[in-house]
Amino acid sequence: MRKNIVVGNWKMNLKRKESLELVEEVISMLKNNNVEVVFAPSYTYLYKVNKMCTDLSYVHTASQNISKNKNGAFTGEVSAEMIHSLGVKYIILGHSERREYFNETNTDLRTKVDLSLSNNLDVIFCCGESLKQRESGVHFDWIKSQIVESLFHLTEEEFSKIVIAYEPIWAIGTGVTASSSQAEEIHAYIRSVISDKYGENVSANCSILYGGSCKPNNARELFSKENIDGGLIGGASLDANSFVEIIKSFQ
Ligand code: 13P
Repeated sequence: MRKNIVVGNWKMNLKRKESLELVEEVISMLKNNNVEVVFAPSYTYLYKVNKMCTDLSYVHTASQNISKNKNGAFTGEVSAEMIHSLGVKYIILGHSERREYFNETNTDLRTKVDLSLSNNLDVIFCCGESLKQRESGVHFDWIKSQIVESLFHLTEEEFSKIVIAYEPIWAIGTGVTASSSQAEEIHAYIRSVISDKYGENVSANCSILYGGSCKPNNARELFSKENIDGGLIGGASLDANSFVEIIKSFQ
């Protein structure tokens, strides 16, 4: 079901005390919220953070990654079934940092998508282009191929568990944001790609989030666009005031 979602992707930031304090602070500032709020802390605090969120129907947690293997001798890896056993709702997959620094391919991501769904975890699937790709005009095809190759083997019912996050790589951690019309153009395109495969209804029900230097000062403008259903927030999610301000941009 399409809904407004704001996800805080903490990446490899914050120690234990800071993490728990941040969650406590954000929760205390959210009253009668009509936006789904998701924390994606480090694996190490995921269990505790998830416990802190269980009383609130609109606050959930996400894992930033999972192994592409089901289980077994893979030292240092964390499986989808382990994450599911914590009561976590979402898995973030395909973040550009995972694609770039850990060489994750569309095929790897397809495997991870399947493992997530078979363990009852919903997927926040990231896609997006580099500046070079945008400048050379291949960004539409690039984004389409990311979606097609990792997601379009899913049934309609399975696809309903997918949230898409459009994250232009050139806007991540740079302070440069896609303008609301640049973002809306891609979001509308992504919705049309989904519609071509699964039909209008599935497409209209898919939440598509924007990520890339989304901050309190631009969130309202971005979220006002028809096809932008929320945000995947990096830097600004590490501060309770700025994260909550972004969440409240819907109100
Ligand atoms: P920033 O908000 O820090 O640009 O990060 C975006 C992002 O990568 C979220 O996953």
